[in-house]
Amino acid sequence: MTEVEGILATAAALLAGATTVEEVQAAATELLGKKSALTAAHRGLAGLDPDGRREVGRELQEAKARIEELIGARRSALEAVERAARLDRDRLDLTEARGKRGPGHLHLVQRTRDELEDVFVGMGFVVAEGPEVETDWYNFEALNIPPAHPARGMWDTLYLEFGDPETILLRTHTSPVQIRVMEGQAPPIYAVMPGRCYRRDTPDARHIPIFHQIEGLVIDRGISFAELAGTIEAFTTSYFGPDIHSRLRPAFFPFTEPSAEFEITCTICKGSGCRTCSQTGWIELGGCGMVDPAVLDAVGLDAEEWSGFAFGFGIDRCAQMRHEIPDMRILLENDVRFLRQL
Ligand code: PHE
Repeated sequence: MTEVEGILATAAALLAGATTVEEVQAAATELLGKKSALTAAHRGLAGLDPDGRREVGRELQEAKARIEELIGARRSALEAVERAARLDRDRLDLTEARGKRGPGHLHLVQRTRDELEDVFVGMGFVVAEGPEVETDWYNFEALNIPPAHPARGMWDTLYLEFGDPETILLRTHTSPVQIRVMEGQAPPIYAVMPGRCYRRDTPDARHIPIFHQIEGLVIDRGISFAELAGTIEAFTTSYFGPDIHSRLRPAFFPFTEPSAEFEITCTICKGSGCRTCSQTGWIELGGCGMVDPAVLDAVGLDAEEWSGFAFGFGIDRCAQMRHEIPDMRILLENDVRFLRQL
């Protein structure tokens, strides 16, 4: 073994024996410092002839580089081990905190949506969904609301800056999903379509600009207004309880004819009259009516053969009425004092 090979073997053995970063540092001094065999060998170069000096000098350079490499490798290996040990030592035991917080739960609006779906699924409806970003055609035109029609004033629309002006919008109601469902399947159709809607409204106790609706659509042969009224009454008593009933009042919607607003017994006063219902005993929940032939036309259904009804109402409003929430804005605020009560 040459002298250089001996130096390298010693270095490897010394480093393998180092078990901490400090020991690696000490070994590095021993291997490369003033008192090291390498430095001594360097000094020995002076006694060699120029050729020998050049050759041995190069070998010593290479040996030094190799030793530095070994030191670096050993140091990073030990640093990794020490970091893992430190993380383990510093771990926080959060078991107790988790026990105090509880596992969390669904938001009231989501739970209300689930329960409403259950009621309608129990009546034989299927659940469908559509996009929140809609085109003017689905949100308005296919629903018999032409451009510049005054009925557009019923919905304060938020438009997106995308494509031609006022062509892409945030849906103002779930009615566009009626169109998508009719496009996607042939009748008979019995579907409910829940989802988030947007209107350019100023928030107050009874309005929030981001809210939820559930839409209903039935298309079949020989469907009459009586089925609509019966479906709404069945839903009302099964969701709000046997003391709460529904009634329909004439109204106008471009996509239904005839149209009605539907109201339920005020859940606060059970119909005797209070501040919430302005002493009427009734609370408005949504709109409904017989699907207008112009809407069937827009999706290519023969209005002579098919008829049906549609309804749409606020999910947040249902939650508000059932849980007697005085101000709807709290549904958007994520105040834990409110959330924890539910
Ligand atoms: N889309 C109407 C609204 O948001 C409600 C409605 C749905 C009315 C279906 C009739 C039929 O005001």
